[in-house]
Amino acid sequence: MSDIKPTQVFYHAGTVTREERQGLLKQTGATVWFTGLSGSGKSTLAVAVEQVLIQRGHAAYVLDGDNIRFGLNAGPKILADTRGYAEEQAKRFGLGFSAADREENIRRIGEVAKLFADAGLLALTSFISPYRKDRDAARKIHEQNKAGAIPFVEVHVNTPIECCEQRDPKGLYKQARDAVAAGKGMGFTGVDDPYEPPAKPELTFDASKHSVEEGVAQVLNYLQHRGLVRG
Ligand code: ADX
Repeated sequence: MSDIKPTQVFYHAGTVTREERQGLLKQTGATVWFTGLSGSGKSTLAVAVEQVLIQRGHAAYVLDGDNIRFGLNAGPKILADTRGYAEEQAKRFGLGFSAADREENIRRIGEVAKLFADAGLLALTSFISPYRKDRDAARKIHEQNKAGAIPFVEVHVNTPIECCEQRDPKGLYKQARDAVAAGKGMGFTGVDDPYEPPAKPELTFDASKHSVEEGVAQVLNYLQHRGLVRG
């Protein structure tokens, strides 16, 4: 038997409101959407922003390839090898890098980020998200949310491709150039698949010109200025 007396519990009919969650967390749930080429420094910046937000007592969480493309949006091979999917199911539900798969990747991430933000968190997403219409669709589901608009902040990490390619942390640019030279192609963003820059991002950051600390300060200033983080 519970020893909680009814008078200790305040229950009101209906659901918890966004205002109640925001009052608890001293922040307004929002999605900060980092977009840019592979190797542009998106994840480095997102992870650094997350660290500083947490240090300052704010609830933030990074969604990136490391947690999403090995979990929710894993590729067919991962689903078959580690989740017991039959080959046909693995192909049907797994995501690769075709235009249709990238679209579905970004659609799911947009929905998940929106839920995180609705729960009051600062959702920091770091994906190439190369196609403008897919990013705009993610923005739209935030801004046209039924229970009230959820802030969506697009950060274009616009480090020049020459710099991304020079860094080439995973050796994928080289692989893509070799594939193109061999007449095969690989559908790699910036080499033989397009990157469509945002028309009106809230922020831009060029990692070849500015330090990570400067980028963090820029994002934090913006969030404070818009009143999304307080205290
Ligand atoms: S997105 O285009 O669907 O937004 P996402 O950000 O999830 O891409 O994943 C990009 C990462 O996957 C790259 O940083 C790179 O490591 C890897 N990758 C593998 N194949 C490709 C490809 N064809 N184009 C771009 N990135 C690829």
